Amino acid sequence: MEKVLVTGGAGFLGSHLCDQLIKAGADVLCVDNFFTGDKRNIAHLLSQPYFELMRHDVSFPLYVEVNKIYNLACPASPVHYQHDPVQTTKTSVHGAINMLGLAKRTGATILQASTSEVYGDPEVHPQTENYWGRVNPIGPRSCYDEGKRCA
Ligand SMILES: NC(=O)c1ccc[n+]([C@@H]2O[C@H](COP(=O)([O-])OP(=O)(O)OC[C@H]3O[C@@H](n4cnc5c(N)ncnc54)[C@H](O)[C@@H]3O)[C@@H](O)[C@H]2O)c1
Repeated sequence: MEKVLVTGGAGFLGSHLCDQLIKAGADVLCVDNFFTGDKRNIAHLLSQPYFELMRHDVSFPLYVEVNKIYNLACPASPVHYQHDPVQTTKTSVHGAINMLGLAKRTGATILQASTSEVYGDPEVHPQTENYWGRVNPIGPRSCYDEGKRCA
């Protein structure tokens, strides 16, 4: 049975992903610090035998055994990610490093949730993979944009 870690699993995208993974027969570990997520998003899954919920901040290391990692943990809307820019940066950067370390140790495959914000205010539409973007490194969005660029 596939053991799948979903970070940010109590959030908007993560909770729907948890639904689909449970339907597909996976053993799901949902990790969230509930900064923007809500227990109500995954309440209906708590009675499922192969669903587990852990309160944890991904900016700290996590030692679990998994085969797949979906790293979605990060506040996604400006009002939330600008609330504590340092924590947003830590969530993206330390979170990605911790999840990559976990993937390396366990041999798990990993998906990192990025964003079109990594292109900043682009001069090119649509952006291709070889376009480097035009991010303001000291602007109000930089904690999210630069964090995601690093991740
Ligand atoms: N929704 C979109 O349109 C969109 C677009 C581009 C990228 N993304 C990315 O997709 C991912 C999910 O976005 P979403 O819309 O579901 O956002 P969301 O805010 O609903 O979900 C993010 C989840 O991460 C959790 N979280 C935040 N910091 C954490 C931390 N340090 N440790 C553990 N959990 C933490 C929150 O509590 C929340 O449950 C994010 O990484 C976001 O940047 C979303």
